[in-house]
Amino acid sequence: MSELTADEIVDLCLKHTLYDWQQQGSTRPIAVASARGCEFFTVDGKRYLDFNSQLMGVNIGHADPRVADAIAEQARVLPYISPFMATEVRARLGVKLAELMPGDLDKVFFTLGGAEANENAIRIAKATTGRQKILARYRSYHGATYATITLTGDPRRWANEPGMPGVVHVLDPYHGTRRGTDDAKTALAYLEETVMLEGPKTIAAFILEPVTGTNGILIPPDGYLQGVRELCDRHGILLIADEVMSGFGRTGDWFAVNHWGVVPDIMTMAKGLTSSAVPLGAVGLSPKVYRYFDEHVFYGGLTYNSHPLGLAAALATIRVYEEDGLIEHSAKMGEVMARHHQELADKHPSVGLVRNIGLFGIVELVRNRETMEPMAPYNGASDEMKAVGKHLDERGLFTMVRWNGIMTNPPLPITEEQLAEGFGIIDEALEIADRAVV
Ligand SMILES: Cc1ncc(COP(=O)(O)O)c(C=O)c1O
Repeated sequence: MSELTADEIVDLCLKHTLYDWQQQGSTRPIAVASARGCEFFTVDGKRYLDFNSQLMGVNIGHADPRVADAIAEQARVLPYISPFMATEVRARLGVKLAELMPGDLDKVFFTLGGAEANENAIRIAKATTGRQKILARYRSYHGATYATITLTGDPRRWANEPGMPGVVHVLDPYHGTRRGTDDAKTALAYLEETVMLEGPKTIAAFILEPVTGTNGILIPPDGYLQGVRELCDRHGILLIADEVMSGFGRTGDWFAVNHWGVVPDIMTMAKGLTSSAVPLGAVGLSPKVYRYFDEHVFYGGLTYNSHPLGLAAALATIRVYEEDGLIEHSAKMGEVMARHHQELADKHPSVGLVRNIGLFGIVELVRNRETMEPMAPYNGASDEMKAVGKHLDERGLFTMVRWNGIMTNPPLPITEEQLAEGFGIIDEALEIADRAVV
């Protein structure tokens, strides 16, 4: 029970704390009291079905008691110790991640979240290759620190420019509802040309989200990631897979790169690593990369590198994925999600595109299926999208409505019944969007 009312909580939060990516005067957050499984509850007692795992990170569901117990136990015994020490929890999680990561990746550097993981990934790429430039894609998000907001291609970068020197953005295979997705051959030819024009020997790494998250659940055409791997190998460019959002079962496999059998040189993780229960990120490294540091100093460090509470949470979270078969469940429920998506597309003329891989999904709305004009422009809003979002909120479905897209990314333990409930509410909301179809 909260001692403060919902309004008091919201007012005080707004008065004394800053909210992300918002004009502070026009935001009114939900006062949340508790969460369990795929649901959370407001201070006023309203239940929400979580269809976005918050920021696509609460993968095992909210407030799993097994993780809570592991954190509490670690807090009693050794809540913190300097990263220069060795601990059993660090040893055990290192072994576990080495086992789970693709290919020969078997060493990690622990951070506090996704941005710090990407910061260190590019630091390592630059140090080990002796090159300075990084390729990244426009439709991407890699974090909000100075370097990672520069890597980020989406409009959140604009206000933060000029950023770190040496970042070159390239187009994605996906070009929006109107132009659709290039095939792998076309996308790779364009990439090859960019690499040639930039000078292959000046490029340390190409960082990409194997399946792009907030920029629209963009699933690459088959052959694209394999082609990127081959191109990087040919030019001595390191491939950094940002699996911060796509990792840990979100796509129905441990990591998104596994769907295409691609092994990156560096892989960043966060979010699902602890199911967001405690802040933790990691940079996974292949021997080709980390061997450099056998003879050279690693010029990086964090007071909270290998924080025992984060590591204990991660170990317990990984155990939950395994014990509950959540990776397989995500793949299975992904098939159910695909059927719901198709039903919505069959029924509603406002549905332009649907796609999902595992429980990573989106419904993109359009004003007209011939022109494929999106229901809200790139980086913009529209009255219809706002009305759709309002309806979902009123009916207790929490998700991210961004530009012309409705995200469908529930926690992995979601049941068929809960999926039907969530898609039932989206079905109702789409009646509003259908009225705007011309
Ligand atoms: C793909 C990706 N990379 C990096 C980040 C940044 O992670 P964090 O917010 O933990 O710094 C995010 C966050 O949404 C993300 O989706």
